[in-house]
Amino acid sequence: MLTLLEALQHADATGTAVGHFNISELIAMKAVFEAAREKNLPVVVGVSEGERQFMGVLQVAAFVKSLREEFNFPIFLNADHTHSLAKAIEAAKAGFDWVVFDLSTLPFEENVRQTRQAVEALKAIRPSILVEGEIGDIGSGSEIHDAAPASSGQLTTPDEAKQFVEETKVDTLAPAVGNRHGMTRNMVEGEDRKHLNIRRIREIKEATKIFLTLHGASGTDDRDLRDAIAAGITVVHINTELRVAWRRGLEATLASHPNEVVPYKLLPSVVESVKRVIASRLALFGAGREHSQTRSAN
Ligand code: G3H
Ligand code: ZN
Repeated sequence: MLTLLEALQHADATGTAVGHFNISELIAMKAVFEAAREKNLPVVVGVSEGERQFMGVLQVAAFVKSLREEFNFPIFLNADHTHSLAKAIEAAKAGFDWVVFDLSTLPFEENVRQTRQAVEALKAIRPSILVEGEIGDIGSGSEIHDAAPASSGQLTTPDEAKQFVEETKVDTLAPAVGNRHGMTRNMVEGEDRKHLNIRRIREIKEATKIFLTLHGASGTDDRDLRDAIAAGITVVHINTELRVAWRRGLEATLASHPNEVVPYKLLPSVVESVKRVIASRLALFGAGREHSQTRSAN
């Protein structure tokens, strides 16, 4: 079966991206798996420290493994935004395929030093595990924000990206290229979209030649996403859009079945609600270079 590394290599070579979707429970897990299976595309399930604490580290690993083995399907598991070596090691030992080691709030040199140590420690546990490093400020919280959070707006530079990759030996890099975690209320209502710096993505890709991950992709303009993938993004993380669909789906099913108490009768429509978002994002990520009109400026 396809490995995670092969899935990334294939996406990189074809100008497509692999979808990474965060989950907190089994409704979203089912939605990710069913959407990916219907499109026959490899997919990554992400669980942050909070998400995996809620699900159970070993339990979420066992669930993804069981789907992969029973259906012989390339579904992978990422320990998203892991802020300590202890939690990264816990995930690696539980069988996670990937760890996002996120010390992006530390000074650059300290981030480099500790990320390099984490790469060594995690590869010693399982050489095939992938490790992602993160530099720059892309905010935190896959939530609905009242307004765009104040930020330095500083983008990752190609030079610092190159230095970070060379010194840490990470497999994938998450840069700050105009992306931010979460959505504003206007984005949820479809009145505003996030925009990315495509030129900077291209420059970082050329400088590092590494797989680049776009975090905080919820609410991003479709054309920007296509151009970002054509410019060198290989993995796209979506969380808040799924959480919004989950909540809306849940509210709708509870409202339309006021007396129903059977979960397996109420919840399939919530799975469908989350699945629709995933399916449309997967269609966009898998569209390939020919669908992008890459802009020279931006
Ligand atoms: O790691 C998770 C993602 O970066 C999600 O960001 O909530 O803006 O989609 P998002
Ligand atoms: Zn993220």
